[in-house]
Amino acid sequence: MKSIVILISGRGSNMEAIVRAAIPGARVAAVISNRPQAVGLRFAADNGIATAVVDHTGFADRASFDAALGETIDRYAPDLVVLAGFMRVLTADLVRRYEGRMINIHPSLLPAFTGLHTHQRAIDAGARVAGTTVHFVTAELDCGPIIVQACVPVLPDDDADALAARVLVHEHRIFPQAVRWIVEDRVRIEDGRATVCAAPATATLINPALDVA
Ligand code: GRF
Repeated sequence: MKSIVILISGRGSNMEAIVRAAIPGARVAAVISNRPQAVGLRFAADNGIATAVVDHTGFADRASFDAALGETIDRYAPDLVVLAGFMRVLTADLVRRYEGRMINIHPSLLPAFTGLHTHQRAIDAGARVAGTTVHFVTAELDCGPIIVQACVPVLPDDDADALAARVLVHEHRIFPQAVRWIVEDRVRIEDGRATVCAAPATATLINPALDVA
């Protein structure tokens, strides 16, 4: 059974989608937030998942916050750490600790629009398509190997909220999908690029005793 730790900062709808997916061979061991008021903590607790808060406002600098965050994460010995709307930039040290086993969802078609306000920036740029990306986390913000993307049209009357809502539907679809692929050990990273291997073929068992003409 693979252990997953999910980090959130707010609503937690992506975390919820992953929990609801009930991925075989995996269990969400804990949901950790940097904000005590994160709405998603309630859903996790109601579903019997351990929760923890490492409040970034209580730390003097990024390094001491990350040290405490790392300690909390490691309590659950995760095989996979999932950043699901976790709004803190992590230090290179912490990222290195989970290299190849930490993923993030970003609401744009990376490498376009790294950072914040992605939907408004896509609209302002006159982009015809927008979307979302699940990727491995590396020290450079929103730049790690891409696992899966989904795209949606940008419509002429869109504002950032309308576009975000259209994209979010797909986040809830591809994020659990990416977690499932990793749990099934189907994702490889080579030369900075991630590839997803085909599912192992299921053998067809023919039992003559059950053959009915
Ligand atoms: C999502 O749009 C995610 O892509 C971005 O922040 C939002 C978090 O939403 N990083 P939620 O907390 O999962 O509902």
